[in-house]
Amino acid sequence: MTTAPRTLSLGAFVQGAGGHIAGWRHPEAYAAGQLDFAFHAELARVLERGRFDALFIADVAALWGHQMDALSRSGRAEHFEPLTLLSALSTVTEHIGLVATATTTYNEPFHVARKFASLDHLSHGRAGWNIVTSVVPLEAANFGRSEHLEHELRYRRADEFVEVVRALWDSFADGSLLRDKASGSYYDPAGLRPPHHQGEHFTVRGPLNISRPPQGHPVLFQAGSSQTGMAFGARHGEVLFTLQADLAGAQAFYAGVKKQVAAAGRNPDHVLIWPILFPLVGGTEEEARRKVAELDELVHDDVARRLVQDNIGDLDLTEYPLDGPVPDIPDSNRSKSRRDLLLGLARQENLTIRQLALRISGGATVAGTPEQIADHLELWFTERGADGFNVSFPYLPGPAVDFVDQVVPLLRKRGLVHETYEGSTFRENLGLPRPASQEVAA
Ligand SMILES: Cc1cc2nc3c(=O)[nH]c(=O)nc-3n(C[C@H](O)[C@H](O)[C@H](O)COP(=O)(O)O)c2cc1C
Repeated sequence: MTTAPRTLSLGAFVQGAGGHIAGWRHPEAYAAGQLDFAFHAELARVLERGRFDALFIADVAALWGHQMDALSRSGRAEHFEPLTLLSALSTVTEHIGLVATATTTYNEPFHVARKFASLDHLSHGRAGWNIVTSVVPLEAANFGRSEHLEHELRYRRADEFVEVVRALWDSFADGSLLRDKASGSYYDPAGLRPPHHQGEHFTVRGPLNISRPPQGHPVLFQAGSSQTGMAFGARHGEVLFTLQADLAGAQAFYAGVKKQVAAAGRNPDHVLIWPILFPLVGGTEEEARRKVAELDELVHDDVARRLVQDNIGDLDLTEYPLDGPVPDIPDSNRSKSRRDLLLGLARQENLTIRQLALRISGGATVAGTPEQIADHLELWFTERGADGFNVSFPYLPGPAVDFVDQVVPLLRKRGLVHETYEGSTFRENLGLPRPASQEVAA
């Protein structure tokens, strides 16, 4: 067990013009920011000013949605490939961790290991990989498949994928790159450990053609919440994203995952739980609520309908009234946990399709004064519903600047967050250990 006091960690979930589905339409949102590097660079600097631990870019290898008809109204229709953007950001930032999603379903381990090792070197130890199995079935059509890989099979492939990637990162033992001009020895052959992997899904000889990342391994993020996904996260994840509707649910998830982590033979202190937080700061609670209502107004009917459909199943909702009840939606090959959570919510609160859409539009779940938002973070942190938060801003850049300038100072005053970056790597800033290098063969 560690004896250092717990410190709350913060990551920013950056989605182009904002996390709210209609955030890009807000009068103050920088809608063209998606593909404007200067915008991303400035935002990253704001986040570093607020000592955010991480800047996270999610990814879907397709137009972001399940059905094409509503996508013409979505600000998620275009976005940078995350590793390319983060590589560029690594040159204009100094401390913040740079986390990208990469799917294990439509990649090869060698590609992923190589790219994240490169980002870790470029950024001097600030890379993080969000391991996903692809939540959007449309990706299949971009990789020569007619069907998305089945849920359990996706996770089996992901297990082997992660094993291979780790082995590839360990291809060169720490210290085995000599670059000794006098002797002419570039690396010590005794330190070379090609994986020679042969498994159910992959055959990879290796070694990787880049030395061990500065962090040993980039920090591993994960967001599974089905039973299979949580077990996967407990085996491999170091920071776990989760979507939780209330503190009781967050506490149950937190306790459950930490138990699974311990059962998997890992130290629960070395796995951080980060629920997603959608904050919206106002001068008064009333002003904050007004801002939420303004955002809700911007959600077009087609987008609302598709949002529900995309998140919970394969039923075509076109013929259903938006202000009528959410119908029964059959099980699908998508996120089971998310479907269960949202259908449960709709039933429990008797929500209409539109009302459910507004709950999942990425709008504020915590709208209020800076003090109210700081109270929320403090409560979830001290009551063990969270070790940190994955903070999504409804539109950008305004709400991110407000959070940094108004909420972060309160968290500092309360001693909940560090004021400066103490570590030299992302791992060190998060208090996570560096994975040991495999022993050099005798
Ligand atoms: C904060 C957060 C970020 C996520 N980012 C991505 C992503 O970038 N790409 C993706 O395909 N899935 C993403 N997911 C989905 C998860 O990887 C996972 O599939 C989902 O939570 C459902 O869990 P399950 O796979 O165990 O059913 C994200 C989920 C959360 C909560």
